[in-house]
Amino acid sequence: MHGSTGYSGYHQNNQQRPRKRGGGRRTSRKYQHHQNTRNNGDDDQKEQKSPPPCTDFDKAYFHCYAHVGIHEEMIKDSVRTETYKAAIMHHQSFIEGKVVMDVGCGTGILSIFCAQAGAKRVYAVDASDIAVQANEVVKANNLADRVIVLHGRVEDVEIYEKVDVIISEWMGYMLLYESMLGSVIAARDRWLKRGGLILPCTATLYMAPITHPDRYKDSIEFWRNVYGIDMSVMMPLAKLCAFEEPCVETITGENVMARPHVVKHVDCYTIQLHELESVSTRYKFQSTMRAPLHGFALWFDAEFSGPASSTNNNPVDGFRGKKHANPDEALVLSTGPEDLPTHWQQTLIYYFDPIEVEQDQIIEGSLTLSQNKENHRFMNIRLVCSSGGMSYVKELVMR
Ligand SMILES: C[S@@+](CC[C@H](N)C(=O)[O-])C[C@H]1O[C@@H](n2cnc3c(N)ncnc32)[C@H](O)[C@@H]1O
Repeated sequence: MHGSTGYSGYHQNNQQRPRKRGGGRRTSRKYQHHQNTRNNGDDDQKEQKSPPPCTDFDKAYFHCYAHVGIHEEMIKDSVRTETYKAAIMHHQSFIEGKVVMDVGCGTGILSIFCAQAGAKRVYAVDASDIAVQANEVVKANNLADRVIVLHGRVEDVEIYEKVDVIISEWMGYMLLYESMLGSVIAARDRWLKRGGLILPCTATLYMAPITHPDRYKDSIEFWRNVYGIDMSVMMPLAKLCAFEEPCVETITGENVMARPHVVKHVDCYTIQLHELESVSTRYKFQSTMRAPLHGFALWFDAEFSGPASSTNNNPVDGFRGKKHANPDEALVLSTGPEDLPTHWQQTLIYYFDPIEVEQDQIIEGSLTLSQNKENHRFMNIRLVCSSGGMSYVKELVMR
Protein backbone atom coordinates (compact mmCIF):
# COMPACT_ATOMS: atom_id res chain seq x y z
CA MET A 1 0.00 0.00 0.00
CA HIS A 2 1.18 3.51 -0.61
CA GLY A 3 1.49 5.79 2.35
CA SER A 4 1.91 9.48 1.81
CA THR A 5 4.97 9.71 3.98
CA GLY A 6 7.97 7.91 5.27
CA TYR A 7 9.19 5.34 2.82
CA SER A 8 12.49 3.81 3.68
CA GLY A 9 14.88 1.24 2.32
CA TYR A 10 14.62 -0.43 -1.03
CA HIS A 11 11.17 -1.40 -2.17
CA GLN A 12 10.66 -3.28 -5.38
CA ASN A 13 7.68 -2.25 -7.44
CA ASN A 14 7.27 0.69 -5.09
CA GLN A 15 4.49 -1.27 -3.41
CA GLN A 16 4.16 -0.25 0.18
CA ARG A 17 1.80 -0.26 3.03
CA PRO A 18 2.28 3.04 4.84
CA ARG A 19 5.53 3.19 6.74
CA LYS A 20 4.70 6.09 9.00
CA ARG A 21 1.71 5.21 11.09
CA GLY A 22 0.19 7.17 13.82
CA GLY A 23 -2.76 6.88 15.99
CA GLY A 24 -6.43 6.99 16.20
CA ARG A 25 -8.03 9.90 14.56
CA ARG A 26 -11.00 10.74 16.71
CA THR A 27 -13.28 12.40 14.25
CA SER A 28 -16.95 13.12 14.12
CA ARG A 29 -18.62 9.77 14.12
CA LYS A 30 -21.25 9.14 11.58
CA TYR A 31 -23.13 7.07 14.09
CA GLN A 32 -22.63 6.84 17.76
CA HIS A 33 -24.47 4.29 19.78
CA HIS A 34 -24.61 5.47 23.34
CA GLN A 35 -25.53 2.27 25.05
CA ASN A 36 -22.40 0.68 26.33
CA THR A 37 -22.16 -3.01 25.54
CA ARG A 38 -21.44 -3.67 29.20
CA ASN A 39 -25.04 -2.89 29.92
CA ASN A 40 -26.61 -5.19 27.39
CA GLY A 41 -27.36 -7.87 29.89
CA ASP A 42 -25.05 -10.42 28.27
CA ASP A 43 -23.06 -12.14 30.97
CA ASP A 44 -20.42 -13.10 28.36
CA GLN A 45 -19.32 -9.52 28.33
CA LYS A 46 -15.78 -9.08 29.62
CA GLU A 47 -14.99 -6.18 31.88
CA GLN A 48 -14.37 -3.17 29.70
CA LYS A 49 -10.97 -1.51 30.09
CA SER A 50 -10.49 2.12 29.16
CA PRO A 51 -9.17 2.39 25.61
CA PRO A 52 -5.47 3.12 25.02
CA PRO A 53 -4.70 6.77 24.31
CA CYS A 54 -4.72 7.93 20.72
CA THR A 55 -1.16 9.16 20.22
CA ASP A 56 0.23 11.47 17.56
CA PHE A 57 1.77 8.35 15.99
CA ASP A 58 -1.69 6.81 15.79
CA LYS A 59 -3.04 9.99 14.20
CA ALA A 60 -0.30 9.91 11.56
CA TYR A 61 -1.08 6.23 10.97
CA PHE A 62 -4.75 6.91 10.30
CA HIS A 63 -3.83 9.90 8.19
CA CYS A 64 -1.89 7.57 5.84
CA TYR A 65 -5.04 5.55 5.34
CA ALA A 66 -6.99 8.63 4.25
CA HIS A 67 -5.05 8.54 0.96
CA VAL A 68 -6.88 6.82 -1.87
CA GLY A 69 -3.66 5.28 -3.27
CA ILE A 70 -3.22 2.93 -0.36
CA HIS A 71 -6.75 1.57 -0.78
CA GLU A 72 -6.36 1.30 -4.53
CA GLU A 73 -3.26 -0.80 -4.07
CA MET A 74 -4.86 -3.08 -1.49
CA ILE A 75 -8.00 -3.59 -3.54
CA LYS A 76 -5.99 -4.19 -6.73
CA ASP A 77 -4.10 -6.91 -4.89
CA SER A 78 -6.45 -9.54 -6.25
CA VAL A 79 -4.89 -12.37 -4.23
CA ARG A 80 -5.79 -10.47 -1.07
CA THR A 81 -9.20 -9.16 -2.09
CA GLU A 82 -10.39 -12.32 -3.86
CA THR A 83 -9.34 -14.48 -0.91
CA TYR A 84 -11.39 -12.30 1.46
CA LYS A 85 -14.35 -12.40 -0.91
CA ALA A 86 -14.07 -16.18 -1.28
CA ALA A 87 -13.83 -16.55 2.51
CA ILE A 88 -16.98 -14.47 3.01
CA MET A 89 -18.85 -16.57 0.44
CA HIS A 90 -17.43 -19.75 1.99
CA HIS A 91 -19.04 -18.73 5.28
CA GLN A 92 -22.20 -17.34 3.70
CA SER A 93 -24.51 -19.71 5.57
CA PHE A 94 -23.02 -18.48 8.86
CA ILE A 95 -23.09 -14.80 7.86
CA GLU A 96 -26.66 -14.74 6.46
CA GLY A 97 -28.99 -12.85 8.79
CA LYS A 98 -26.18 -12.11 11.26
CA VAL A 99 -24.44 -9.02 12.64
CA VAL A 100 -20.91 -8.35 11.40
CA MET A 101 -18.20 -5.91 12.43
CA ASP A 102 -15.54 -4.92 9.91
CA VAL A 103 -12.57 -3.68 11.94
CA GLY A 104 -10.82 -1.08 9.78
CA CYS A 105 -13.26 -1.01 6.89
CA GLY A 106 -11.26 1.37 4.68
CA THR A 107 -13.40 2.02 1.60
CA GLY A 108 -15.98 -0.45 2.90
CA ILE A 109 -15.26 -3.22 0.43
CA LEU A 110 -15.29 -6.13 2.90
CA SER A 111 -18.39 -4.75 4.63
CA ILE A 112 -20.19 -4.65 1.30
CA PHE A 113 -19.11 -8.22 0.51
CA CYS A 114 -20.61 -9.24 3.86
CA ALA A 115 -23.84 -7.38 3.10
CA GLN A 116 -23.94 -9.12 -0.30
CA ALA A 117 -23.51 -12.43 1.53
CA GLY A 118 -26.71 -11.64 3.41
CA ALA A 119 -25.55 -10.06 6.68
CA LYS A 120 -28.43 -8.45 8.57
CA ARG A 121 -26.25 -5.55 9.72
CA VAL A 122 -22.59 -4.64 9.24
CA TYR A 123 -20.76 -2.17 11.46
CA ALA A 124 -18.02 -0.76 9.25
CA VAL A 125 -15.53 0.95 11.55
CA ASP A 126 -12.58 3.09 10.50
CA ALA A 127 -10.74 5.84 12.32
CA SER A 128 -9.27 7.27 9.14
CA ASP A 129 -11.08 9.90 7.11
CA ILE A 130 -11.50 7.21 4.45
CA ALA A 131 -14.61 6.32 6.49
CA VAL A 132 -16.33 9.35 4.92
CA GLN A 133 -15.77 7.76 1.51
CA ALA A 134 -16.88 4.37 2.80
CA ASN A 135 -20.16 5.93 3.83
CA GLU A 136 -20.62 7.38 0.33
CA VAL A 137 -19.79 4.02 -1.28
CA VAL A 138 -22.32 2.30 0.95
CA LYS A 139 -25.01 4.83 0.07
CA ALA A 140 -24.23 4.62 -3.66
CA ASN A 141 -24.81 0.87 -3.46
CA ASN A 142 -28.12 1.27 -1.60
CA LEU A 143 -26.82 -0.52 1.46
CA ALA A 144 -27.14 2.28 4.00
CA ASP A 145 -29.93 0.38 5.79
CA ARG A 146 -27.61 -2.54 6.48
CA VAL A 147 -24.04 -1.16 6.51
CA ILE A 148 -23.46 1.35 9.31
CA VAL A 149 -20.24 3.28 8.94
CA LEU A 150 -18.69 4.32 12.25
CA HIS A 151 -16.01 6.93 11.83
CA GLY A 152 -13.76 6.40 14.82
CA ARG A 153 -11.35 4.01 16.49
CA VAL A 154 -12.75 0.59 17.18
CA GLU A 155 -11.46 1.08 20.70
CA ASP A 156 -13.69 4.16 21.10
CA VAL A 157 -16.90 3.58 19.14
CA GLU A 158 -19.91 2.10 20.85
CA ILE A 159 -22.69 -0.11 19.52
CA TYR A 160 -25.92 -1.45 20.99
CA GLU A 161 -25.44 -5.12 20.34
CA LYS A 162 -22.98 -7.98 20.14
CA VAL A 163 -21.77 -9.28 16.81
CA ASP A 164 -21.68 -12.75 15.28
CA VAL A 165 -18.76 -12.11 12.94
CA ILE A 166 -15.62 -9.99 13.06
CA ILE A 167 -13.81 -9.49 9.79
CA SER A 168 -10.62 -7.50 9.44
CA GLU A 169 -7.68 -7.09 7.14
CA TRP A 170 -5.16 -6.27 9.85
CA MET A 171 -2.01 -8.00 8.61
CA GLY A 172 1.05 -5.81 8.16
CA TYR A 173 4.42 -6.52 6.62
CA MET A 174 5.89 -9.62 8.26
CA LEU A 175 2.44 -9.96 9.78
CA LEU A 176 3.00 -7.93 12.92
CA TYR A 177 4.28 -4.60 11.60
CA GLU A 178 1.61 -1.92 11.99
CA SER A 179 0.28 -3.57 15.19
CA MET A 180 -3.34 -3.53 14.07
CA LEU A 181 -4.14 -6.94 15.52
CA GLY A 182 -4.55 -5.30 18.93
CA SER A 183 -7.60 -3.48 17.59
CA VAL A 184 -9.15 -6.76 16.43
CA ILE A 185 -8.53 -8.17 19.92
CA ALA A 186 -10.25 -5.11 21.42
CA ALA A 187 -13.29 -5.63 19.15
CA ARG A 188 -13.36 -9.36 19.88
CA ASP A 189 -13.28 -8.85 23.64
CA ARG A 190 -15.96 -6.16 23.57
CA TRP A 191 -18.45 -7.53 21.09
CA LEU A 192 -17.95 -11.03 19.68
CA LYS A 193 -20.68 -13.47 20.72
CA ARG A 194 -19.66 -16.87 22.05
CA GLY A 195 -19.43 -19.18 19.06
CA GLY A 196 -18.87 -16.22 16.75
CA LEU A 197 -16.65 -16.20 13.70
CA ILE A 198 -13.42 -14.27 13.17
CA LEU A 199 -12.06 -13.86 9.64
CA PRO A 200 -9.22 -14.60 9.31
CA CYS A 201 -9.16 -17.03 12.22
CA THR A 202 -5.43 -17.72 12.36
CA ALA A 203 -2.20 -16.39 10.91
CA THR A 204 1.32 -17.76 10.84
CA LEU A 205 4.60 -15.89 10.44
CA TYR A 206 7.48 -17.75 8.75
CA MET A 207 11.18 -17.10 8.27
CA ALA A 208 13.86 -18.68 6.08
CA PRO A 209 17.49 -17.95 5.13
CA ILE A 210 17.90 -16.54 1.65
CA THR A 211 20.51 -16.07 -1.03
CA HIS A 212 20.02 -13.13 -3.39
CA PRO A 213 23.16 -12.47 -5.48
CA ASP A 214 21.28 -10.32 -8.03
CA ARG A 215 20.10 -7.94 -5.34
CA TYR A 216 23.60 -7.62 -3.92
CA LYS A 217 25.05 -7.13 -7.39
CA ASP A 218 22.43 -4.56 -8.28
CA SER A 219 22.87 -2.37 -5.21
CA ILE A 220 26.47 -2.96 -4.08
CA GLU A 221 28.69 -4.50 -6.78
CA PHE A 222 27.29 -1.89 -9.15
CA TRP A 223 29.66 0.71 -7.65
CA ARG A 224 32.80 -1.20 -8.69
CA ASN A 225 32.60 0.04 -12.25
CA VAL A 226 30.32 2.91 -13.11
CA TYR A 227 30.74 3.94 -16.75
CA GLY A 228 34.40 2.84 -16.45
CA ILE A 229 34.95 4.75 -13.18
CA ASP A 230 35.98 2.89 -10.01
CA MET A 231 33.41 4.05 -7.47
CA SER A 232 33.93 1.19 -5.05
CA VAL A 233 34.55 3.69 -2.23
CA MET A 234 30.78 4.17 -2.39
CA MET A 235 30.18 0.54 -1.37
CA PRO A 236 30.12 0.97 2.44
CA LEU A 237 27.53 3.73 2.11
CA ALA A 238 25.58 1.71 -0.44
CA LYS A 239 25.45 -1.25 1.99
CA LEU A 240 24.32 0.97 4.82
CA CYS A 241 21.61 2.63 2.75
CA ALA A 242 20.40 -0.61 1.18
CA PHE A 243 20.48 -2.94 4.18
CA GLU A 244 20.20 -0.83 7.32
CA GLU A 245 16.43 -1.35 7.44
CA PRO A 246 14.20 -4.27 6.46
CA CYS A 247 13.35 -4.31 2.77
CA VAL A 248 9.97 -5.16 1.28
CA GLU A 249 10.67 -7.08 -1.93
CA THR A 250 9.47 -10.04 -3.89
CA ILE A 251 11.75 -13.07 -3.96
CA THR A 252 11.09 -16.55 -5.34
CA GLY A 253 11.44 -20.06 -4.01
CA GLU A 254 14.89 -20.21 -5.66
CA ASN A 255 16.18 -17.62 -3.19
CA VAL A 256 15.14 -19.72 -0.20
CA MET A 257 17.95 -21.83 1.28
CA ALA A 258 16.05 -24.02 3.73
CA ARG A 259 12.63 -25.19 4.80
CA PRO A 260 10.83 -22.29 6.54
CA HIS A 261 10.50 -22.01 10.28
CA VAL A 262 7.39 -20.85 12.14
CA VAL A 263 8.16 -17.67 14.07
CA LYS A 264 4.67 -17.16 15.51
CA HIS A 265 1.25 -18.72 15.13
CA VAL A 266 -1.64 -16.41 15.98
CA ASP A 267 -5.07 -17.76 16.88
CA CYS A 268 -7.36 -14.75 16.57
CA TYR A 269 -9.85 -16.28 19.03
CA THR A 270 -7.39 -16.57 21.87
CA ILE A 271 -4.39 -14.29 21.26
CA GLN A 272 -3.85 -11.69 23.98
CA LEU A 273 -2.45 -8.20 23.57
CA HIS A 274 0.60 -8.80 25.76
CA GLU A 275 1.73 -11.68 23.51
CA LEU A 276 2.26 -9.18 20.70
CA GLU A 277 4.59 -6.87 22.61
CA SER A 278 7.53 -9.16 21.90
CA VAL A 279 7.76 -12.34 19.84
CA SER A 280 10.89 -14.48 20.08
CA THR A 281 11.90 -17.69 18.43
CA ARG A 282 14.97 -19.92 18.17
CA TYR A 283 15.61 -21.37 14.73
CA LYS A 284 17.86 -24.02 13.23
CA PHE A 285 18.12 -24.43 9.46
CA GLN A 286 20.10 -26.87 7.36
CA SER A 287 21.06 -25.24 4.09
CA THR A 288 19.81 -27.12 1.03
CA MET A 289 22.52 -25.48 -1.13
CA ARG A 290 26.06 -24.13 -1.29
CA ALA A 291 25.49 -20.40 -1.68
CA PRO A 292 26.17 -16.99 -0.14
CA LEU A 293 23.69 -16.34 2.65
CA HIS A 294 22.47 -12.78 2.20
CA GLY A 295 19.95 -12.68 5.02
CA PHE A 296 16.49 -13.86 5.99
CA ALA A 297 13.00 -13.52 4.57
CA LEU A 298 9.77 -13.24 6.57
CA TRP A 299 6.22 -13.73 5.32
CA PHE A 300 2.86 -14.99 6.54
CA ASP A 301 -0.23 -17.07 5.81
CA ALA A 302 -3.73 -16.22 7.06
CA GLU A 303 -6.48 -18.85 7.32
CA PHE A 304 -10.19 -18.38 7.00
CA SER A 305 -11.69 -21.51 8.51
CA GLY A 306 -14.48 -21.61 11.08
CA PRO A 307 -14.01 -21.41 14.85
CA ALA A 308 -13.85 -25.17 15.30
CA SER A 309 -10.69 -25.62 13.22
CA SER A 310 -8.89 -22.64 14.67
CA THR A 311 -7.50 -24.61 17.55
CA ASN A 312 -4.54 -26.00 15.61
CA ASN A 313 -1.65 -24.30 17.33
CA ASN A 314 0.97 -26.41 15.65
CA PRO A 315 1.25 -25.43 12.02
CA VAL A 316 3.77 -27.54 10.19
CA ASP A 317 6.76 -25.65 8.84
CA GLY A 318 6.67 -25.33 5.10
CA PHE A 319 5.19 -23.73 2.09
CA ARG A 320 1.59 -23.46 1.05
CA GLY A 321 0.04 -26.73 0.06
CA LYS A 322 2.12 -28.69 2.49
CA LYS A 323 0.05 -27.47 5.39
CA HIS A 324 -3.29 -28.90 4.42
CA ALA A 325 -3.85 -32.49 3.49
CA ASN A 326 -7.14 -31.37 1.99
CA PRO A 327 -6.85 -27.97 0.28
CA ASP A 328 -10.64 -27.48 0.54
CA GLU A 329 -10.37 -27.67 4.30
CA ALA A 330 -9.43 -24.03 4.73
CA LEU A 331 -9.04 -20.96 2.60
CA VAL A 332 -5.52 -19.61 2.99
CA LEU A 333 -4.10 -16.24 2.01
CA SER A 334 -0.41 -16.99 1.49
CA THR A 335 2.27 -14.39 0.93
CA GLY A 336 5.32 -16.63 0.64
CA PRO A 337 8.06 -16.69 -2.00
CA GLU A 338 6.40 -19.66 -3.70
CA ASP A 339 2.95 -18.07 -3.81
CA LEU A 340 1.40 -15.56 -6.15
CA PRO A 341 2.81 -12.09 -5.44
CA THR A 342 0.83 -9.78 -3.17
CA HIS A 343 1.34 -6.17 -2.13
CA TRP A 344 2.88 -7.49 1.10
CA GLN A 345 5.68 -9.12 -0.92
CA GLN A 346 8.22 -10.54 1.55
CA THR A 347 10.13 -8.69 4.26
CA LEU A 348 13.87 -9.17 3.92
CA ILE A 349 16.58 -8.62 6.48
CA TYR A 350 19.92 -8.42 4.70
CA TYR A 351 23.40 -8.66 6.13
CA PHE A 352 25.81 -5.96 5.00
CA ASP A 353 28.08 -8.72 3.65
CA PRO A 354 27.16 -12.23 2.49
CA ILE A 355 28.18 -15.30 4.51
CA GLU A 356 29.46 -18.28 2.48
CA VAL A 357 27.47 -21.40 3.36
CA GLU A 358 28.08 -25.03 2.27
CA GLN A 359 25.32 -27.49 1.44
CA ASP A 360 23.88 -29.00 4.66
CA GLN A 361 25.61 -26.38 6.81
CA ILE A 362 23.66 -25.46 9.92
CA ILE A 363 22.41 -21.89 10.28
CA GLU A 364 21.00 -21.28 13.75
CA GLY A 365 20.13 -18.53 16.12
CA SER A 366 17.23 -16.43 17.31
CA LEU A 367 14.87 -13.73 16.16
CA THR A 368 13.03 -11.23 18.34
CA LEU A 369 10.37 -8.85 17.05
CA SER A 370 9.28 -6.24 19.59
CA GLN A 371 6.92 -3.35 19.35
CA ASN A 372 8.90 -0.13 19.45
CA LYS A 373 8.44 1.52 22.86
CA GLU A 374 7.99 5.01 21.42
CA ASN A 375 5.72 4.05 18.52
CA HIS A 376 4.12 0.65 18.96
CA ARG A 377 3.41 0.45 15.22
CA PHE A 378 7.15 0.29 14.50
CA MET A 379 8.96 -2.99 15.00
CA ASN A 380 12.37 -3.53 16.62
CA ILE A 381 14.13 -6.55 15.17
CA ARG A 382 17.03 -8.46 16.70
CA LEU A 383 18.47 -11.26 14.61
CA VAL A 384 21.23 -13.49 15.97
CA CYS A 385 22.79 -16.02 13.63
CA SER A 386 25.62 -18.55 13.96
CA SER A 387 27.01 -20.56 11.08
CA GLY A 388 30.38 -22.10 10.21
CA GLY A 389 31.83 -21.11 13.58
CA MET A 390 30.98 -17.42 13.20
CA SER A 391 28.26 -15.38 14.91
CA TYR A 392 26.42 -12.37 13.58
CA VAL A 393 23.99 -10.00 15.27
CA LYS A 394 21.80 -7.57 13.39
CA GLU A 395 19.53 -5.05 15.11
CA LEU A 396 17.21 -2.88 13.08
CA VAL A 397 13.94 -1.02 13.23
CA MET A 398 11.08 -1.27 10.75
CA ARG A 399 9.62 2.25 10.66
C1 LIG B 1 -5.26 -2.61 5.81
S1 LIG B 1 -6.58 -1.44 5.74
C2 LIG B 1 -7.93 -2.45 5.25
C3 LIG B 1 -9.06 -1.69 4.60
C4 LIG B 1 -10.22 -2.51 4.10
N1 LIG B 1 -10.77 -3.36 5.14
C5 LIG B 1 -9.82 -3.37 2.93
O1 LIG B 1 -9.69 -4.58 3.12
O2 LIG B 1 -9.63 -2.85 1.83
C6 LIG B 1 -6.79 -1.19 7.45
C7 LIG B 1 -7.78 -0.09 7.82
O3 LIG B 1 -8.00 -0.19 9.21
C8 LIG B 1 -8.10 1.09 9.76
N2 LIG B 1 -7.79 0.95 11.19
C9 LIG B 1 -6.63 0.50 11.74
N3 LIG B 1 -6.72 0.47 13.07
C10 LIG B 1 -7.96 0.91 13.38
C11 LIG B 1 -8.65 1.12 14.61
N4 LIG B 1 -8.05 0.87 15.79
N5 LIG B 1 -9.90 1.60 14.58
C12 LIG B 1 -10.50 1.89 13.39
N6 LIG B 1 -9.90 1.71 12.21
C13 LIG B 1 -8.66 1.24 12.19
C14 LIG B 1 -7.14 1.93 8.95
O4 LIG B 1 -7.47 3.30 9.02
C15 LIG B 1 -7.31 1.32 7.57
O5 LIG B 1 -8.26 2.03 6.81
